[in-house]
Amino acid sequence: MPETLTPLPDGFARHMVNWQRQHGRQSLPWQNTQDPYRVWLSEIMLQQTQVTTVLDYFPRFLACFPDVAALAAAPQDKVLGLWSGLGYYSRARNLHKCAQEVMARFGGAFPRRAEDLQTLPGIGRSTAAAIAAFCFLERAAILDGNVKRVLTRVLGYGADLAVAKNEKALWALAQDLLPAQAADMPRYTQALMDLGATVCLPRKAQCEACPVSAACKAKAQGDPLAYPVKTRKLKRSSATLWLLWAVNAQGQVWLQKRPDTGIWAGLYSLPVFESEADLRAAWVQGQDPHYIEPWKHVLTHRDLHLHPVRMTGSAAHGPTCVGQWVDAHAWSGLGLPAPIRVLLANA
Ligand code: ADE
Repeated sequence: MPETLTPLPDGFARHMVNWQRQHGRQSLPWQNTQDPYRVWLSEIMLQQTQVTTVLDYFPRFLACFPDVAALAAAPQDKVLGLWSGLGYYSRARNLHKCAQEVMARFGGAFPRRAEDLQTLPGIGRSTAAAIAAFCFLERAAILDGNVKRVLTRVLGYGADLAVAKNEKALWALAQDLLPAQAADMPRYTQALMDLGATVCLPRKAQCEACPVSAACKAKAQGDPLAYPVKTRKLKRSSATLWLLWAVNAQGQVWLQKRPDTGIWAGLYSLPVFESEADLRAAWVQGQDPHYIEPWKHVLTHRDLHLHPVRMTGSAAHGPTCVGQWVDAHAWSGLGLPAPIRVLLANA
């Protein structure tokens, strides 16, 4: 019987570590090593692929590319070829890029801190923490999908994880639960992964097999499957918008009121086009086109890639698209989308 361990986090890490020693997975080929190359490779493969499949690919990949230098030097086609069947090929492309950056930026040695690992292609916050914890004993918290489930249940954390600040708060709670001793980090990290993968499952909580059930808030409430809470995630989309920034000799700018629906509904904006060609066609008399460095503007459900083109011309021969010349001092009083306001303000 597990001894009582309320309140959290006292004893949480200790129970997890002891459980892993007895009941966790012990002899997977990427365990029992502190080689960051092997740990990194396995973590990337395991991100979207079952352990049984990775057991097949991992040794073949290592036989072909025994270290990060070999991987970095390989032609991309060869890397993608060895990946074929694993899916999510951006992982393989990032893997290759990451190996090359480890060579170029870090002299062939993976950085030791999660914070630095996270700057490499394809290494997110949780993967960075896993590598740092397994190989370098850093007290860094992982929080992948399985671990989110385990921790939200144990903590009774019912805030909607689709909301960024709630997820951020869970990261902080995950950090609070870490073992005090850095030496326990590899086994603790593996314990969380193992509990999430073998006991605390999405549709079956199996609390009788859980080392921390005595402290689990979700179990005490009687409905562990109620966690995690995540509202249906809307699929993010992205769009490229070309913005005509037409200016006349009086310093006026051509603005149009956006339709009542869609992006920036009802606001005043630079005219928006789907392509550069459409933009140029809307003001053939515009001169000296200046292509402003594009940037990404993040909306709730959409990434906008904004490509402004600034041109000058006469007031009498303005753009042919809907809109009007607006005085320089007048536009600041209109409702403008934030990125457009910033753009005009920095002119
Ligand atoms: N899934 C992600 N990382 C893992 C690991 N180190 N062992 C088993 N499954 C995992």
